Amino acid sequence: MREIAAAAKGHWGYDAALVRSWAASLDLSPGRLSGAEAFVADADGRAIGWAEVLPPEDGACVLEHLWVEPARIGAGIGSQLFRHAAGRARRLGATAMEWEAEPNALGFYARLGGRRLRTAMSEWGRELTIMGVVLVPS
Ligand SMILES: CC(C)(COP(=O)(O)OP(=O)(O)OC[C@H]1O[C@@H](n2cnc3c(N)ncnc32)[C@H](O)[C@@H]1OP(=O)(O)O)[C@@H](O)C(=O)NCCC(=O)NCCS
Repeated sequence: MREIAAAAKGHWGYDAALVRSWAASLDLSPGRLSGAEAFVADADGRAIGWAEVLPPEDGACVLEHLWVEPARIGAGIGSQLFRHAAGRARRLGATAMEWEAEPNALGFYARLGGRRLRTAMSEWGRELTIMGVVLVPS
């Protein structure tokens, strides 16, 4: 999962050392993930992407991670992971899902119905767009 996240983030051309240090800092310990809504897309038993949605707070789940390995970008994996995350968030009782959008992925999220909600400072000191979707109960 760490390798996929690093490769996906690096796909946008960010400084390699910064990306490595960010990926190394991700807490992917079994203790944390066992209680989380994290899921992997696999092809022939090999992980090719993953996503994680956090438990709802004030009715909204945060989509914390969404990464597709570069060789698989553009093949529909990201949309499947996004829709799965939204479905999980809905089943957890959330009425909305929000996320901090990578600037290069704004078009992808807009394509999936994401709306721009506000901006926030990221851990890299960038002003990023917070996007969201409303989740209609099924
Ligand atoms: C962003 C990301 C998750 C998208 O996943 P993907 O599997 O490549 O996306 P899909 O193939 O499901 O694309 C779905 C639609 O969005 C469009 N799309 C995909 N990436 C796009 C982008 N960066 N900008 C604009 N449109 C995009 C596709 O053309 C497709 O449109 P269509 O339905 O008209 O054919 C993937 O590119 C990725 O992991 N990127 C690197 C890491 C990253 O930015 N993660 C997001 C962190 S917030």
